Amino acid sequence: MAHREGFFKYQAQTTPHPLAMEVANAEGSYIYDTTGKKYLDFVAGVSACSLGHRHPKVIRAIKEQLDQYLHVMVYGEYIQKSAVELTTLLAKHLSPSLQKTYLTNSGTEAIEGALKLARRATGRSQIIAAKLAYHGNTMGALSVMGYEERKQVFRPLIPEIEFLEFNNEDDLDIITSKTAAVILETIQGGAGFIMPTNDYLKKVKQRCQQVGAKLILDEIQPGFGRTGELFGFQHYDIVPDILVMGKGMGGGLPIGAFTASEAMMDLLMANPKLGHITTFGGNPVIAAAALATLKEITETNLIPATLTKEKLFRSLLIHPLIKEVRGKGLMLAMLTPSAEIATEVVLQCQEKELILFWLLFENKAVRITPPLTISEDEIKEGCAIILEVLNKIQEKTT
Ligand SMILES: Cc1ncc(COP(=O)(O)O)c(C=O)c1O
Repeated sequence: MAHREGFFKYQAQTTPHPLAMEVANAEGSYIYDTTGKKYLDFVAGVSACSLGHRHPKVIRAIKEQLDQYLHVMVYGEYIQKSAVELTTLLAKHLSPSLQKTYLTNSGTEAIEGALKLARRATGRSQIIAAKLAYHGNTMGALSVMGYEERKQVFRPLIPEIEFLEFNNEDDLDIITSKTAAVILETIQGGAGFIMPTNDYLKKVKQRCQQVGAKLILDEIQPGFGRTGELFGFQHYDIVPDILVMGKGMGGGLPIGAFTASEAMMDLLMANPKLGHITTFGGNPVIAAAALATLKEITETNLIPATLTKEKLFRSLLIHPLIKEVRGKGLMLAMLTPSAEIATEVVLQCQEKELILFWLLFENKAVRITPPLTISEDEIKEGCAIILEVLNKIQEKTT
C-alpha cells in the first residue's frame, strides 16, 4: 500500500470513492495488485487494451521504436515511419472516401478536430448531437455531450448545438441546411450500449446528404474490432464523412484519430493554414503500438471471434437479476434491476478478483468489455464469479 496516501493526497480523483486498487503489474487478461491478488479483467482499461495487457507484439513494436527515436517534431512536418505505416494500413481497411487520417493524443481531441473539420468543410456552424451521447471532456466534446447534469456547471459551452433522440426518426428534420455536422456514436456507449435500429444510421446519412451536412461517427468504443467488424459502422452499410477513433487503437497507449477524404482533410492546410495542430499527435512510439495492434487485430481471427465470445457470454449470463445483455461482440452491458445492484455487482466481483465497471449515464448497467484476446475459459471463469455474486445479492434481498 506504498502509494495509497500519495494517491489520495497528491493525485486528482474524479469520484469520492475510487476503486483504488494498487497495481503491481498486468499481463494478458489479468491485473495483479500489490497484495498479490490476481484480477481477471473484464473491462480492459475501459475498452482501451484491446489486445490485453502488454501484448508481446505491441511491446516489441514499442521497444523497437524506443531504440530508434522518440518525439522529434510537431505533427505533420517530418516523415516518421510508424505513423505513415499506421495511416496507410488504416486507409487499406477503409473506403475510398476515408483515406486520410489525422492522429491525435486522445479521443476527445480527435472529436475536436472532427468538429472543426466539419465546420471548415461546410462553412456552417450548427452541430447536432444525440441525447445521452458521450464524446469526451474537452470543451467542444463536452458541448456535444447529451447529458445536461454533467455539463451545466461548465457553461457557457460552444453555441449552436442541438440534440436529437438516438434512433428516433421523427427528429431527423432537426437536421437542416444550417447544419455543419451530425455527430453520433455508432453504438451509444455511456447511454447503455444502445444499438442503432431500423436502418437509423442510413437514414441519418441520407438526411445529411440531402441538406449538405457531414456525418461524424464516433467509433472510439466500438472501433478496432470490438463488435465483429473493424469499425461498428461496417455492420450498417454506410460510410461516415468523418470517422473518429481512439481507445483500443493504441494497444494500451494514449491515442485518437479522425479520418476523412483527402479533399476534406486537406482543408486543414489552408485558410487558415495550420488549421489543427498538435505537438505530440502521431508520436512515433504510440503510432508503433497502434500499428502493431491494427496488424494483430486484422491479421488474426480476433474480430470474428468477438461474435463467438459474445454468444458464450450471452449463454452464461442468465440470472433473474440480469434483465438484459445489451451490445454487440465484446462491447456488452449487463442490465440489473437497480443502480444499487449494479454497484454491488461491481464491488463484490472486485472482491472476488474480477474487474467490472459502470457505464457513464446508465446506472443500472455493468460494463463487460474484456480484451479481444480473452479466452473462452477466462470468460467462463469470470461469468461464474458474476453468477455467484448475483446469487448472494438475490439471497440477501429475498
Ligand atoms: C464514445 C467515446 N467518445 C469519446 C471518448 C473520449 O475519449 P478519451 O477519453 O480518449 O478522450 C470516449 C471515452 O470514453 C468515448 O467512449
